[in-house]
Amino acid sequence: MNRNLILKNARIVTPMGRTARCGAEMKRLLDIPRGTIEVTDGRITYVGENLPDTRDGYDVIDVRGNVVLPGFVDSHTHLVFGGYRPDEFVWRMNGESYMSIMERGGGIFSTVRATREASFDELKQKAEWFINVMSRMGVTTVEGKSGYGLDRDTELMQLEVMRAINQDPCRKVDIATTFLGAHAVPREYAGRTDEYIDFLINDMLPLVKQRGLAENCDVFCEKGVFTIGESKRLLIAAKEMGYGIKLHADEIVSFGGATLAGELRALSADHLLHASDTGIQAMKEGGVIATLLPLTAFTLREPYARGREMIDSGCAVALATDLNPGSCCSGSIPLLFALACIYMRFSVEEAITALTLNGAAALNKADSIGSIEVGKWGDLVVLDTDTPNVLPYYTAMNSVQHTIKRGVILK
Ligand code: NIG
Ligand code: FE
Repeated sequence: MNRNLILKNARIVTPMGRTARCGAEMKRLLDIPRGTIEVTDGRITYVGENLPDTRDGYDVIDVRGNVVLPGFVDSHTHLVFGGYRPDEFVWRMNGESYMSIMERGGGIFSTVRATREASFDELKQKAEWFINVMSRMGVTTVEGKSGYGLDRDTELMQLEVMRAINQDPCRKVDIATTFLGAHAVPREYAGRTDEYIDFLINDMLPLVKQRGLAENCDVFCEKGVFTIGESKRLLIAAKEMGYGIKLHADEIVSFGGATLAGELRALSADHLLHASDTGIQAMKEGGVIATLLPLTAFTLREPYARGREMIDSGCAVALATDLNPGSCCSGSIPLLFALACIYMRFSVEEAITALTLNGAAALNKADSIGSIEVGKWGDLVVLDTDTPNVLPYYTAMNSVQHTIKRGVILK
């Protein structure tokens, strides 16, 4: 597998830096109309206007003025799961709410049952199917959460599936792993939420850490799921153990999750459909990345998060798919760009930063991916035309010509 690559005659479009871009910085991109990118042994070794001396052992591609972007970083997915829930989708189309389906034992609980029954290989094959689809749309790094086991062995199995994918030398994406044992209170602990949190803090977090299975810890902080106090107790313990902390915050109702994220200086707060003004301010002050998931709002038929206001308030905003079997069974990057630009009023440049450098920062990886800069991994996307404006303009159609992972051309 050759990890030495030269892309020439490229319109190079990329945010710059090794941390998230905030507010007005999100629209500032480097734009080199005719440039060259050299990748050596998987890492970027040259970016600029002058063609480096071509050397033996490099694949050379003339992209003829087409746009080259950093590989897309999808920083919020639940891509390892058993079963599907198409019936629930139809119930929701007929007016039933997401939470009422969950309250009567469906929703997340339905996927927990199916995931507990699934084998390791079934879970892995299914996750790989989604990864293949997303890779063709330009995704080179994806986050994956546990949270469909809610018991020791199934939670570990979900994380081990992701580890197995990451260990494949021919993998199409890297998976950043997140422990989401606090996705719901399992039936076995009904009415004993504090005991379940004790189990997560005392048993699961140390075990997952010891086995090196997850980088981050997340919680579904929502009315009827985990309260602010419960979420806080879990996340403080996780942070002390060295996890990056994340929250599903203010998704269904305005609940104070964004404010808590700011207080705890979380890596990210995600969803935020109902984040308050105080919450937006707290995220900005706490350096929290506001991760917006418009495909979920779209499929739940809910109003979009106030992305424009968050950017204008100076927040660092990321975009991600939320691919999962319930609220959003879509990993569509083209549709994500369209919704962000059409309905949330992102500029194309802001949307690119949100899905590259800021997505990387939401996974604590902005020093190694998320922009086209010397020293970072050679994770790149070549579009099939010479302007990035096609990203929303080809509405929900794929404009990716090549996806490149650590210097290897995948398609
Ligand atoms: O991000 N809201 C919580 N978790 C997921 C949905 C999980 C599911 O419905 O299976 C979300 O929307
Ligand atoms: Fe989610």
